[in-house]
Amino acid sequence: MLIDTYGRVATDLRVSLTDRCNLRCTYCMPEEGLQWLGKSDLLTDDEIVRLISIAVTELGITEVRFTGGEPLLRPGLVGIVERCAALTPRPQMSLTTNGIGLKRTATALKAAGLDRVNVSLDTLRPDVFKTLTRRSRHQDVLDGMAAARDAGLTPVKVNAVLMPGLNDNEAPDLLAWAVENDYELRFIEQMPLDAQHGWKRDGMITAGDILESLRTRFTLTEEGDTARGSAPAERWVVDGGPHRVGVIASVTRPFCGACDRTRLTADGQVRTCLFAREESDLRAALRSDATDQEIAELWKVAMWGKKAGSGLDDPTFLQPDRPMSAIGG
Ligand code: 5AD
Ligand code: SF4
Repeated sequence: MLIDTYGRVATDLRVSLTDRCNLRCTYCMPEEGLQWLGKSDLLTDDEIVRLISIAVTELGITEVRFTGGEPLLRPGLVGIVERCAALTPRPQMSLTTNGIGLKRTATALKAAGLDRVNVSLDTLRPDVFKTLTRRSRHQDVLDGMAAARDAGLTPVKVNAVLMPGLNDNEAPDLLAWAVENDYELRFIEQMPLDAQHGWKRDGMITAGDILESLRTRFTLTEEGDTARGSAPAERWVVDGGPHRVGVIASVTRPFCGACDRTRLTADGQVRTCLFAREESDLRAALRSDATDQEIAELWKVAMWGKKAGSGLDDPTFLQPDRPMSAIGG
């Protein structure tokens, strides 16, 4: 098992498959100039499958999420999913994507064994989408989501980040649209993970702001903490159900105490937290012929060093050196 000194057990593994992306969301990446990982730095498909296999068969991981950057940019994705689906026990598998490539890949991913997708979409307005992501791909995202739903990659969850002055008035519209299309919407508070280090706590849109805005149009009933478990989203029933809306209050109501995650970057580093400042190098072990047992041991040691929380509330908080795109969301 992957257990830490606070007694938390990691069962959810997030694997970043690439640090590259075809969007440039302002809360994530600069317009240009971000240095990509080199080809030889990236884990190969075989190395990724081997690490996931160790995690699932030796370390108690039951859920695998593929992330990026944009994971659909990884050419070997379908093959990786297929090989992970053949593991015993078979892990639950999902994908966090910006949705652009889904129209093309949803059916193949479903056939390979992917269970679900989370798609990022912050606005219903093409012009605002262009400002937020610096690319005119709004329709591609909408098409991708519909393709995922039609392929049975359900429930399709939608992640939205609200940015002051840009899309902070869109919460009720986004919820009405999600209910109508049978997507499960979750708002995520903006976190200090942008490559430009431009995040400011003052002015950020909080969970409280989001709920207040939603309640101008919907009746929200709390689901209660029992339903939340280790899931970061607190959920509310919308207008009596059956639809729900989630809010991930990473900054104002952190859920670190119930965290069940471990992370693997595209270059083979284990991170115990999005905000960790330390990493453990599994790639070096892989490439120096370590055994599965030795790699599992390194992963356990890394987990043992997991901090109690993100440290976001500490005045000495320092943003991690890597941006979100290189850590994996
Ligand atoms: N704060 C909050 N969420 C973010 N995401 C990317 N960067 C940030 C940030 N700084 C979101 C993406 C995606 C998910 C992986 O995390 O929109 O939905
Ligand atoms: Fe790409 Fe996701 Fe970052 Fe946007 S948030 S630039 S979609 S990795």
